[in-house]
Amino acid sequence: MSENNFYSFFEQISSKLGVRERSFRKIFNYLDKMPDPIIIVETGCLRIKDNFSGDGQSTLLFDKYAQHRSNGSKVYTVDINPDATKICEEVVSKNVSITTGDSVKYLNELSKKFNEDKIKVSFFYLDSFDVDWRSPEPSCEHHLKELTSIKNILYKDTLVVVDDSPIIGYLEQRKEGILDLVPFGLVPKPTISGKGTLVHQYAMDTGAKLLYSNYQSGWIGFN
Ligand SMILES: C[S@@+](CC[C@H](N)C(=O)[O-])C[C@H]1O[C@@H](n2cnc3c(N)ncnc32)[C@H](O)[C@@H]1O
Repeated sequence: MSENNFYSFFEQISSKLGVRERSFRKIFNYLDKMPDPIIIVETGCLRIKDNFSGDGQSTLLFDKYAQHRSNGSKVYTVDINPDATKICEEVVSKNVSITTGDSVKYLNELSKKFNEDKIKVSFFYLDSFDVDWRSPEPSCEHHLKELTSIKNILYKDTLVVVDDSPIIGYLEQRKEGILDLVPFGLVPKPTISGKGTLVHQYAMDTGAKLLYSNYQSGWIGFN
């Protein structure tokens, strides 16, 4: 798939991506500046065909992008649900390595193998373990475990994106219909919520950089 074909595919479906459109665009723009081969590792695969606005169809988007970059570019994905990996297999190309299993264990084993084989991952997309917005702890703990499993194979420029991680802050209504941030000091500053809550805390504690935050959040500089 040529560059024009990838972006013409992306433009065809981008409006269906809803809150994720802007951040998927940022991901691909970032990857455009990275050298071949582009290696993408994802947790939580495409599980429902054509569900662009609900989940994002990430595996399909990454597959198309890796095909357009070619030169050994490849996608790896893992999901604990065999129904999800079966659907994913039907939608994406053979250039996607699909594994059924727990993501933390998978990433731990993949890290050892990639270290030995000197395979450099360009981008990790962490999107397993659905978040319960009223009780996000199990999901954000799981995503922190995923980050722990890949820590040894993160480079300065490796992009790590966690889905379902918008910014939250404390708001007040000073004027009718307008929400403003409550001054910091009285309340904590805005931070990342959802699946990426603890990944962000770890990033800030260790000097990594928040590259952007839309509905998804992305960091670089973990090592
Ligand atoms: C939000 S969906 C992924 C959506 C997909 N990234 C997309 O854009 O279409 C989350 C997936 O994570 C999977 N999951 C939940 N716990 C997991 C775990 N411990 N290891 C691997 N996958 C897990 C679920 O089975 C589910 O299919």
